[in-house]
Amino acid sequence: MNFKSNKLYIENIEATKLAKKFGTPSYCYSLSKLKKNIQNFKKNFESVNPLICFSVKSNSNLQILKEIKRSGIGADVVSKGELIIALKAGISPKKIVFSGIGKTFDEIKFAIKKNILLINAESESEIREIEKIAKTKKKKINIGLRLNPNIDAKTLKKISTGKDEDKFGVTESVFLKILKKFRDSKYLCIKCLSVHIGSQITDYHPYAKMIDVVQKTIKKSKHKFDFIDLGGGMGIKYNNKTKSLNYKKYNLIIKKFLKKNNVKIIFEPGRSIIADTAVLLTKIIYIKTTRKKNFIILDAAMNDLIRPALYGAIHQIAPLQRNNKIINKMHDFVGPICESTDKFLSLKKYQKLNEKEVLVICDVGAYGMVLASNYNLRAKPSEIMVNKSSVKVILKRQQLNTII
Ligand code: LLP
Repeated sequence: MNFKSNKLYIENIEATKLAKKFGTPSYCYSLSKLKKNIQNFKKNFESVNPLICFSVKSNSNLQILKEIKRSGIGADVVSKGELIIALKAGISPKKIVFSGIGKTFDEIKFAIKKNILLINAESESEIREIEKIAKTKKKKINIGLRLNPNIDAKTLKKISTGKDEDKFGVTESVFLKILKKFRDSKYLCIKCLSVHIGSQITDYHPYAKMIDVVQKTIKKSKHKFDFIDLGGGMGIKYNNKTKSLNYKKYNLIIKKFLKKNNVKIIFEPGRSIIADTAVLLTKIIYIKTTRKKNFIILDAAMNDLIRPALYGAIHQIAPLQRNNKIINKMHDFVGPICESTDKFLSLKKYQKLNEKEVLVICDVGAYGMVLASNYNLRAKPSEIMVNKSSVKVILKRQQLNTII
């Protein structure tokens, strides 16, 4: 995304043209940016030579997953649906890990049938369930076990996962107990230790602590792991106030860890790959002026993008045509849904805006469309992808008659 003569372009296409042709609200992705992000991620951890498994929960559009597949990376899935779509995109089962605390009998059976690389279990009950199914199939299944390292990821409270009070993984003592119990299982092989402490992490210190706990646990367990799955969580710069994660430091910490441990590292990035590849095109329906505020009423709402309402997340909003007429008044960018939390952003000033004008909400590629709903019986938006000077629809706008 860039401005040329004050006009916003997505790659080589003027955003106004996209809005006109495909309508609003629409998620609009840049293929070049996606490719660049994947390249950068690979480069950041080149010396670690990890298996990168894209976290499908962050974006499960089939066409995007096909691009992910083309770039040679695998998938981290958390449901049967995500596993099916990852396989449909052509991702090799040998590059797929299955995470999640509540995998059902049916989901485990399906994952075993598809011979995926690892099922990352999160409790003793789940492991017993996997063993039971493996026994009936007369197979030996490779699994991972998720450790809860009790670390504060220093991110939004609602997206932190690595603390004792969180529902994820097992504590160190339970971890060691489970290892002992299942060491000689005929049907299971615990090949991986997995961790994931949260999302939108921009400080490398929690990662350093996490690796420390992992190292101590490995030492205590005296178990030979083939894989250490470090999860995802790498944050992005949503605005100027956000710090950037120091990948160099994180990479160095892992390299040091690898000197002591002969294992393959797995990463499960979602946001860092896909978040800043997309904007949400949205049209101003009305502008309502009150004494204190200008309410910019958009045709996108919390059903299209729920992150601001759900987590208090901040997404920048940019005009398609820049001007220098600044209005010094509070601007609330809101959706039309009948809830006060249906608000994207409040800003103390903004350039002069007009009704029917189109804007973009930025960095919405991760946890955007996947969290869209039909609340207020609104149809879900379309998804389009720009590749240099061409554009294609990668998901058609939902039609009301399919949901009514
Ligand atoms: N691996 C596991 C086990 C996870 O639970 C997650 C995210 C990831 C990998 C990918 O994390 P990422 O690299 O994308 O940070 N809806 C929230 C984020 C929830 C994250 C859930 N788990 C949001 O919109 O901020």
